[in-house]
Amino acid sequence: MKILILGGAGFLGTNLTRGWLGNPDAQVTVLDSFDNRFQSNKKSLDDVWEKISVVRGSILDERLLAEIVPQHDVIYHLAAQSSHTLSLKQPILDAEINCLGTLKLLESIRLFHPEALVIYPSSTTSVGKAEEDIIDENHSEKPLEIYSANKGVSEKYFQIYNLVHGLKTIVFRFSNLYGPYGKASAEFGFINHFIYQALNHRPLTIFGSGEQIRNVLYVGDAVELLMSAAYQPQLCGQLAQATSPHHHSVRQIAQTIVETFQSGHVVYETWPNERKRIDVESVRFSSEKLRALTGWSAPTDLVTGIRRTCEILLSSESRERP
Ligand SMILES: NC(=O)c1ccc[n+]([C@@H]2O[C@H](COP(=O)([O-])OP(=O)(O)OC[C@H]3O[C@@H](n4cnc5c(N)ncnc54)[C@H](O)[C@@H]3O)[C@@H](O)[C@H]2O)c1
Repeated sequence: MKILILGGAGFLGTNLTRGWLGNPDAQVTVLDSFDNRFQSNKKSLDDVWEKISVVRGSILDERLLAEIVPQHDVIYHLAAQSSHTLSLKQPILDAEINCLGTLKLLESIRLFHPEALVIYPSSTTSVGKAEEDIIDENHSEKPLEIYSANKGVSEKYFQIYNLVHGLKTIVFRFSNLYGPYGKASAEFGFINHFIYQALNHRPLTIFGSGEQIRNVLYVGDAVELLMSAAYQPQLCGQLAQATSPHHHSVRQIAQTIVETFQSGHVVYETWPNERKRIDVESVRFSSEKLRALTGWSAPTDLVTGIRRTCEILLSSESRERP
């Protein structure tokens, strides 16, 4: 099976690339812009470089897409501007990559390879604040910032291309992925940021009381789902939330990280205004639709996921030490 991972040098992409490398039937190509603005970890694929094809390029390049798309059976569209805060500072850049890039990809599949399966990770933040106790796929969508608005728009593009053009599309909505190869910067998600703060014996700063409830998913669970989706035709045309059955307060998440790494400490600060305005507050999600379609339920709980991340990060740190 020929696998194309767009944005394969990012956090989720690196983990997915490594996941597919465990399948002897898979030939993996990674296409990534390796754009410094998104703090891509250029070294994260160093040790597997020889086992994959790597293309440095942009999903905005229609000629490149026309050439590369027809060569693959399964296409993961992970190329993105993925920072909520950056999307407010550079909204046009966000729309170019997250909306126009998605459209260019879908057009290239429609024109040059309509048999391909294309899988898209969207975000639960496209929903915004909770208007129900439990959020499912029928919940209203009132995103609080540009990134989440554009993820919501992209989801609709996928569904339209399935409905109108018959493309084989699958959309999952993930929330707060964490695990190895994440980005240390707070701009790209709080859990991976907390993990690197603990790893480097620095404070983990919580805005507000830390009582806000979040859903978090170990990246390995997301990878297994994304890989198994390639073999599940009943998912074509679907949009489904893929969240953990467990919910935790931000305080609990931070404390679990500090206890597991035995390093770092939690501090509390008042919310900066610009961050408070885009905070979704407490949210609880259901993955019942996905469970009914496939039997999927996220297997890894928070303590296990943080422990695995800690083991992987500490072992790669000790390997890199002279
Ligand atoms: N990380 C999460 O918690 C999370 C949650 C929900 C959804 N998602 C989605 O999953 C996908 C991957 O997220 P991530 O956390 O790995 O993000 P990431 O920022 O780590 O990876 C995105 C990758 O896309 C690349 N890229 C950006 N613009 C490109 C372009 N024009 N052409 C080619 N490559 C380009 C970047 O260089 C980067 O390597 C995104 O669509 C994101 O919205 C992530």
